[in-house]
Formats: sequence, C-alpha cells, structure tokens
Amino acid sequence: MRAIQIDGYGGPEVIVRRNLPTPSAGPGEVLIRLAYSGINFMDIHTRQGKYASSRTYPQTMPTTLGIEGAGTIEAVGSGVVDFHVSDKVAYCLSWGSYADFAVVAAWRVVHVPEELPLEVAAASMFHGLTAHYLAYDLGKFGPGVTCLVHAASGGIGQILVQLGARLGATIYATTSTERKAEVARKRGATAAFLYDEGGFADTVRNLTGGHGVDVVFDAIGQPTLRDSMRATRTKGLVVSFGSVGGNVKDLDPIELGEAGSLFLTRPRLADHLTDAATIRRRAADIFTALIDGSLSIEIAGRYTLDDVERAHQELENRHTVGKPVIKIE
Ligand SMILES: NC(=O)c1ccc[n+]([C@@H]2O[C@H](COP(=O)([O-])OP(=O)(O)OC[C@H]3O[C@@H](n4cnc5c(N)ncnc54)[C@H](OP(=O)(O)O)[C@@H]3O)[C@@H](O)[C@H]2O)c1
Repeated sequence: MRAIQIDGYGGPEVIVRRNLPTPSAGPGEVLIRLAYSGINFMDIHTRQGKYASSRTYPQTMPTTLGIEGAGTIEAVGSGVVDFHVSDKVAYCLSWGSYADFAVVAAWRVVHVPEELPLEVAAASMFHGLTAHYLAYDLGKFGPGVTCLVHAASGGIGQILVQLGARLGATIYATTSTERKAEVARKRGATAAFLYDEGGFADTVRNLTGGHGVDVVFDAIGQPTLRDSMRATRTKGLVVSFGSVGGNVKDLDPIELGEAGSLFLTRPRLADHLTDAATIRRRAADIFTALIDGSLSIEIAGRYTLDDVERAHQELENRHTVGKPVIKIE
C-alpha cells in the first residue's frame, strides 16, 4: 500500500513516499480502506517535531502522517463486535491516515451514516470533535455567553462559530483578511474583524461595554495570547488550544492576576475523547448537524497522496479557508 511517512523532523523535504505491506488488524483493531484523510495543522506540527516528546501523542519513527480518515472496514481483529467488513466508518487521533489502509483501535472508530459523504466525515472528525468539546465543555455556549474565536475561517474556527451561533452565544471573530472575515460573518459571527496587531482586544472591549468576553478561543499562541487576555472579562476563561503562530514560553502567572483573575487552560482533544461512548456521542452530534444542514464544513482544497507537500505549504501560508482533505482512492 502507499504511505506518506517521515523518518525524522523538518520541513516538507522530510516527507517520503513508500510502498508498504498492507497491515493486519490485531485484537481489538480494525483495518480501514481509506477513502479520504483530513489534513490538519497537527500533521505539520508533527512533521516539524513539536510533538517529539509528547506523552499525549507519542509516536515512533518512521511515522505515517495523518490523524483522521474515513473509509470502509476491510477486516476486523479478534474481539471486535461493533464493526463488519464494508461498514462506512471514520476516526481521528490515530496516526497513519496518509495511506491506502490504516489499522485503528476499534474504540476510536465510529459508523458514518449512509446520508453523510465519506469526504465530509473525514473532514469533520478532528476539527468537529475539537469544536464540540471547546463549545460544550469549555465555552459552555448558550444565550448570554460572549466569546471571541481567532482564525475563524479555519477548519476549527468555522465550526466553532456555527456551534456558537446555533446555541445562542454571541461570537466575535478574528481573521487575517477581510475576505476571511466575511466567511466568519456568513457562518454566524456577530462581528468579525482583523487581528490588527492586537487591536482586536480594544474592538472586543468596545463591543462589550468595556468588559471583555466570557471566553476566548486562541489557537494562534505567541502573536495573540496576551491581547486575548486583554479581551477577556474579569474572571473569564482563556482557552489556548493551539500554537500555529508559535508557542508562548514566557508567561508569568501573575499576568493572569493583573489581567483580571483570569483562568487559562491548554486543553487537548485526547483528554476529551477518552472512551468509545464519548467519541460516539460527540461524532453523532456533529454528523446529525451536518445531515440536517445546521452545520456545514467547507472543503478548503482537495489533494492526493502525490501532493501533500503542497497541501502543507498552503495551510502554513494561510491560503486555506476551511478544511483541506486528501482523496485517497
Ligand atoms: N488542543 C486541541 O484539542 C486541538 C485540536 C485540534 C487542533 N489544535 C491546534 O489548533 C491549531 C489550528 O490548527 P488547525 O488544523 O485546526 O487549522 P485551522 O483551524 O484551519 O487554522 C488555520 C488558520 O490559522 C490561522 N493562522 C494564524 N496565524 C497563523 C500562522 N502563523 N500560520 C498559519 N496559520 C495561521 C490562519 O487563519 P488567518 O489567516 O485568518 O489567521 C489559518 O487559516 C493548531 O495549532 C492545532 O495543533 C488543537
């Protein structure tokens, strides 16, 4: 089978293409014939070595890139009772989806309803389940809740904005361009504006009568985090869930006190997908919304296993709006 691997960390040049034997499903595992793989910033962070010493996301070299996919069950290992050959399935948080086949622990896998295209299922697992726990468990979205979402035209951003609008929260959104801001408005943001080198914090304070929002979702990191704190109300919550712009390495907890007794958290999806029941519940919510039309996923670009370097470059260069995918078959 074809597999896109890395043997070490670095830029797109460390990506290698291999023909490997098709793996077998062991006990408790399923073998999936992949139709689509989602492309995530996590793939780029992984390739660059940012997770090299991660205990949450351990990896061994060589690693096949890609952490989400959708396809059909090719074979089931012993002890697997929930899945059968030919079932339509999707999963996330298991390495190896930039390939023709992947072996995945069955508890991580969900059935994909007949009405949902596999492309949308692949595109919605990692970002959809992330947006789900951010919206429900951390943001506690509902009427009266005010929220700021950065990178709102990105894969996670577009879903967060839609969930917030649907649940009655007031969502303010930031993006790097006016074209992207318009995407966030169309998705339901109450107001969308540019980062303006941190000026977004003043805009948010003006829009909230000087108070700031209840919660900020910041996936950018160093360039925005301190202004995100400035945009948060007293005793509000700053959720630093990503670092596409670089890690914050010099934050003194006293700054949280000075900014208004803020709460700061750095959550990880793995800690919010710890068992099969939770994964199925979150995926069912996202799939149901996609099928009834109350949620949409914008496919940012369709790539093949031959041009993943280009896909990574376009994501890194901020050219994407929505979610890029690889068509495998
Ligand atoms: N903690 C978790 O549970 C969790 C789960 C999933 C992902 N993440 C993290 O969330 C972050 C977002 O990843 P993603 O795959 O979800 O992508 P994404 O949401 O599609 O975000 C990409 C967007 O980030 C914005 N951005 C801001 N500064 C950037 C920079 N310096 N370089 C590139 N893009 C920049 C760009 O939008 P603008 O041009 O509008 O700024 C870009 O479109 C990553 O750090 C990822 O690891 C965390």
